[in-house]
Amino acid sequence: MRAWQVAELDEPLDAMRLVDVDDPRPGPRQLVVKVLASPANFPDVLMCRGEYQVKPELPFTPGVELCGEVVAIGEDVSGFVVGDRVLGGGVLPYGGFAELALLDTATTFPAPPELDDAEASSLYIGYQTGWFGLHRRAALREGETLLVHAAAGGVGTAAIQLGKEVGARVIGVVGGSEKAAVARKLGADVVVDRREQDFVEVVRDETGGRGADVIYDPVGGETYQRSTKCVAFEGRILVVGFAGGTIQSAALNHALVKNYSIVGLHWGLYNRLDPAAVADCHRDLCDLAARGAVRPLVSERLGLDEVADGVQRLADGTTVGRVVYVP
Ligand SMILES: NC(=O)c1ccc[n+]([C@@H]2O[C@H](COP(=O)([O-])OP(=O)(O)OC[C@H]3O[C@@H](n4cnc5c(N)ncnc54)[C@H](OP(=O)(O)O)[C@@H]3O)[C@@H](O)[C@H]2O)c1
Repeated sequence: MRAWQVAELDEPLDAMRLVDVDDPRPGPRQLVVKVLASPANFPDVLMCRGEYQVKPELPFTPGVELCGEVVAIGEDVSGFVVGDRVLGGGVLPYGGFAELALLDTATTFPAPPELDDAEASSLYIGYQTGWFGLHRRAALREGETLLVHAAAGGVGTAAIQLGKEVGARVIGVVGGSEKAAVARKLGADVVVDRREQDFVEVVRDETGGRGADVIYDPVGGETYQRSTKCVAFEGRILVVGFAGGTIQSAALNHALVKNYSIVGLHWGLYNRLDPAAVADCHRDLCDLAARGAVRPLVSERLGLDEVADGVQRLADGTTVGRVVYVP
């Protein structure tokens, strides 16, 4: 089959090569799927660079989430048959940026019929991360103020939709006017273009000086440091990622003095330590998708030969929503 492969670590555009490789074969409790869609995620970028917490053996095919049609089934598989339309996380080295991919049944779910292939492929990592972050880790409540950084990005667009669903007031921070329009259209009540405005001032103004109750931070570094200046009494800062490239340190004396919580979020760990909660989350997300409360924002559909370019643009911070490989 044709597949993108990373054989040497580098920036995505230099690291990824389109090559012919052997088809994957399913092991026990595994499925081979024909890839129907697979979005670029920041972890794909970090894996190309060798900077992700998961360091797959080289060579590997990136594409950490996908929607596919089951074409082969391994031993000890129940609940799936050939022809099922499913979504889940690609088992490396056979990720989603290829004609075929490998899935583990433990992290494979039915794709909701209300979403097309590209949308369904994007309902997994970003939305599950938002769901666990906002509900389980930060306990976001109706009427609270939620500040979302990188609000027009993959996880950010999901966080806006999930925050609005809870009944929170959402302030989105984005880099640029095109992204601001995207965040506004998705339902953010207030949008801050970080190139033009200081989000700390806007949050203070919008909350009468109180600050944001929950801060969803996939950017880190200076963005985190500035966030501590506008977090509310008993607020929660969710440490979601470090897309800005710097891993911050926390001043715990500041957290003590201001009574806020710094809340870590590693969604992937729930797959290992609480798989039942991941299945519950998927059911809830499908219900939300069925009633139109959430809908992944697919901004571009890429052919196979365009995938490395799309992953590089994600790395460069110029994409909105999800750019998705659709064969
Ligand atoms: N904790 C978890 O379990 C978990 C799960 C999934 C993803 N993540 C993390 O969530 C983050 C976002 O992932 P994503 O796939 O949804 O990406 P994304 O948000 O679509 O893209 C990253 C965004 O970060 C912002 N950004 C700020 N400084 C940047 C810089 N120097 N370079 C690149 N981007 C920069 C840009 O938005 P603006 O220009 O609008 O600021 C950019 O669009 C990543 O750090 C990822 O690792 C964490």
